[in-house]
Amino acid sequence: MRRENIAVIGTGYVGLVSGTCFAEIGHQAIAVDRDQSKIERLRQADIPIYEPGLEALVRSNMEAGRLSFTSELQEAVRRSDILFLAVGTPSMPGGEVDLSYLESAFRQLAAAVDRYKLIVIKSTVPVGTAAMAEGWLREEGVEEGRFDIVSNPEFLREGSAIHDTFHSDRIVIGAEDQQAAERIAALHAPLQAPVLFTDRASAELIKYASNAFLAAKISFINEMANVCEKVGADIALVAQGMGMDKRIGSHFLQAGIGYGGSCFPKDTKAQLRIAEDVDYDFKILRSVIEVNALQRERFADRIIQELTEAGGGKAVAVMGLAFKPNTDDLRDAPALDIIEALTTSGVQVRAYDPVALEKASAHMGRHELVTFHADPYEAVAGADAMVITTEWEAVKSLDFGEVARLLSQRLLIDGRNCLEPAAMAELGFRYVSVGRA
Ligand code: UGA
Repeated sequence: MRRENIAVIGTGYVGLVSGTCFAEIGHQAIAVDRDQSKIERLRQADIPIYEPGLEALVRSNMEAGRLSFTSELQEAVRRSDILFLAVGTPSMPGGEVDLSYLESAFRQLAAAVDRYKLIVIKSTVPVGTAAMAEGWLREEGVEEGRFDIVSNPEFLREGSAIHDTFHSDRIVIGAEDQQAAERIAALHAPLQAPVLFTDRASAELIKYASNAFLAAKISFINEMANVCEKVGADIALVAQGMGMDKRIGSHFLQAGIGYGGSCFPKDTKAQLRIAEDVDYDFKILRSVIEVNALQRERFADRIIQELTEAGGGKAVAVMGLAFKPNTDDLRDAPALDIIEALTTSGVQVRAYDPVALEKASAHMGRHELVTFHADPYEAVAGADAMVITTEWEAVKSLDFGEVARLLSQRLLIDGRNCLEPAAMAELGFRYVSVGRA
């Protein structure tokens, strides 16, 4: 394998994981961030995000001399032959993608292009961005022939990012230049993943199309679950039966309170906007987004209805704040919207999360109806009902006999369908889940 000198610009989720994994497979990687204090922390292997396995990998690759961190962008560019751009591309109101971080990185790196550089866009970007970036470099005086720009979208999931990198389903390489494409494929060779070569526009679109389709699967199964409730069917069995058809596949058919996180909400809105910009009304995607928002509202309404029917309890333990297990990420987390809806209706919330609690209390600030609890049983004690909003192992493996004793009403409302209805009924709970009525 040819050992490459790589700079990864942006040490957010994608940049940090990619840079570390490139080092792990034998390349020389420098990770760059303009945030000096973050770089100082990273140099001590102090990882700003919660990602299982990442800290150990950062530490061992730093010790092996394959991974380093700097805030000197141009210095890192001079020392590297391949530059990965992994800066944030947040969405603006209206769904439009904010490319200002990416543009600024391109314009800054231009001054350090002292020889040929192979530049790879890893950030999620709208179609046409790679072509536009060529324009930014030319405007900054970088000569034609001194660079190629390749699109190489990222498909890793938070919480299992390391595993996903080493077991990827595909590596998508969108390039206009074949040599450049092959060099990026060779760089990934130790990962032994199937490679798809495309043009740049298609690669850019594959990322949005994949996230939009996965989001559609979730909204579809959630609507199916709502129908199941009305007709007395069980969504878990319906999903199992559907998933046995290989054309459908069994993944992403877990009904619940809908998707959250930093990717699906942002990317579905961006894709809708991209379609709008070319005068296309992407009707399915519009519904996917709407259904996802409604699912949270329905769940909050259901909690209030169940509380009323159980005798008007006023306090609930909300178990799980992160948008999914194994992350401390609260971006667009369903739990936050649900807490908001509950407190607006005067319900007291006793919130628990094994990892994201501190972040959540900083994010939500002080609210007279919300308390935060590091101990799950403490959250439950004093509550009338328990609500599950994130299917953490720490929540699923609670002693539910003890939970039943601690709650003033044996009401358990599971927004993630992560418990066995029969087992919960045996403990005397009124157990409510999504689509398994
Ligand atoms: C997602 C994609 O899965 C990755 O392939 C992609 O690279 C990433 O976005 C990205 O664009 O960077 P992630 O947001 O980390 O990854 O999380 P997922 O595990 O995909 O879950 C997303 C949301 O869907 C979570 O809120 C989860 O609870 C929900 N979900 C997932 C369901 O409600 N039901 C399911 O069956 C699956």
